[in-house]
Amino acid sequence: MTKEINLRINGEEVTIDVDIRLSLLDLLRDEGYTSVKQGCGVGECGACTVLIDQVPTDACMYLAVWADGKEIRTSEGEGSEGKLSRVQQAYIDAGAVQCGYCTPGFIMTSTAFVEKHKGEEVDRETIRREHAGNLCRCTGYETIICAVEACLNDKE
Ligand code: FES
Ligand code: FES
Repeated sequence: MTKEINLRINGEEVTIDVDIRLSLLDLLRDEGYTSVKQGCGVGECGACTVLIDQVPTDACMYLAVWADGKEIRTSEGEGSEGKLSRVQQAYIDAGAVQCGYCTPGFIMTSTAFVEKHKGEEVDRETIRREHAGNLCRCTGYETIICAVEACLNDKE
């Protein structure tokens, strides 16, 4: 059984007929948003993290039909005019990318975190805790924290 849904993906309005059993992860990958990775498929690794109405969410555990009327952001939609987003660039500057499989999911969690806490004093433990839903099998956690800290400390 299918259902027509309307959603906004990385700023673009999309209308699509989806199987009501399809996960948002599979929908996004089928539509070409391949930054969204499948790791565990059961809500434990965070590789599939996207922002749904600004909230980091495991797309593997979220039915595509639930996204009807919502705004979805994935890592390929970040940045503009051919430039990486501040968070994406900070990951590169901090050397926070190894194999990169976890990186798009981490970047979306970091993006939501930075947008929420910009300019605030946030300790490393809080940053670590707020990224606890994302796992990195290359264990590159420290540099990710450094990248997030750098974004929070931007002077604008
Ligand atoms: S693939 Fe979704 S949490 Fe692991
Ligand atoms: S960089 Fe390899 S899984 Fe995180």
